[in-house]
Amino acid sequence: MSQITVIEHLLYHQKESPMATGRFTRLLSEMILSGKIINQEVNKAGLVEILGLTGETNVQGEKVRKLDEFANHVLEHRLQRAGVLCALASEEKADLITIPKDYPQGDYILIFDPLDGSSNIDANVSIGTIFSIFRRTSPSHEPVTLADVLQRGAEQVAAGYMIYGSSTMLVYTTGNGVHGFTLDPSVGEFLLSHPDIRTPKFGKIYSANEGYWHYWDEATRKAITYFKNPDNERHQVYSSRYIGSLVADFHRNLLYGGIFLYPADKRDPKHPHGKLRLMCEANPLAMIVEQAGGLATDGINRILDIQPAELHQRVPLVIGSYDDVSRVREFMLRDAA
Ligand code: AHG
Ligand code: MN
Ligand code: MN
Repeated sequence: MSQITVIEHLLYHQKESPMATGRFTRLLSEMILSGKIINQEVNKAGLVEILGLTGETNVQGEKVRKLDEFANHVLEHRLQRAGVLCALASEEKADLITIPKDYPQGDYILIFDPLDGSSNIDANVSIGTIFSIFRRTSPSHEPVTLADVLQRGAEQVAAGYMIYGSSTMLVYTTGNGVHGFTLDPSVGEFLLSHPDIRTPKFGKIYSANEGYWHYWDEATRKAITYFKNPDNERHQVYSSRYIGSLVADFHRNLLYGGIFLYPADKRDPKHPHGKLRLMCEANPLAMIVEQAGGLATDGINRILDIQPAELHQRVPLVIGSYDDVSRVREFMLRDAA
């Protein structure tokens, strides 16, 4: 396969993608460089003093790991200076991150989960960075506000993730299909390896943390039982695969077909809508999966239609192969009736 870099690919598809402006290319280049820097640290994490906890807890009430903080710092530092953003929002930070006055401003907004799957870092399991890009809705000369950021996922202009696994990959969409690039360490470039990814209409894999069975509602239990029942419509038992890193579970199901569920559960009354975040996890992956022919809901409603009320809003997530996600929606609708 000829070696096509991300930027070559973006420029080649310039005609179909209004996104391929110089400023977006700059934004993507900075995301790529940040991913390479984070990947370096992830790959040698066991060797340097970067494993373990910082001793702090983040806005999510979760323990912050040194690599979480490192990844967040790299992204904030590089992207604030890229001259293409008017604001950033990180899973790790309570409030909107504005661009210092003396830095060049832009009209894009970047929302990101700097390191997804953090609990797996010390065990050398695949982790990743997830990002979502919007264009501001207010005029460029006005101060950016939360209203610019709290847009429905359908308004995203681009979304993607980097996965630091057996190889390092970048998967992203600008609304014209989903494309995967693999980092060739010998040249330090992400090269096109998975052009125009399409996810199978239905799969043979379901991913859910069944340890929470007793905290799930009846419809969720019926859905999981369906995937385990050899007499289901597919007359096949699905394999259970759950890594505990959303980006890794999602990526496998995107390529092989399958469904990932992080339903609402009754474990934590503070978080009745489950653990995953709408803005920095569900929205970007929902844009990717729909562009690949799949579907993403909160059980019933399309993720990309949800109007966010706050930056760190949680949402139940059912995402993957179109038919499998549609089947779960039927269980949820029947239960809601
Ligand atoms: P993060 O590391 O960004 O906080 O995300 C962790 C998420 C997600 O990656 C994964 O699917 C989920 O946590 C696993 O949660 P459980 O351990 O509750 O199953
Ligand atoms: Mn995450
Ligand atoms: Mn995270």
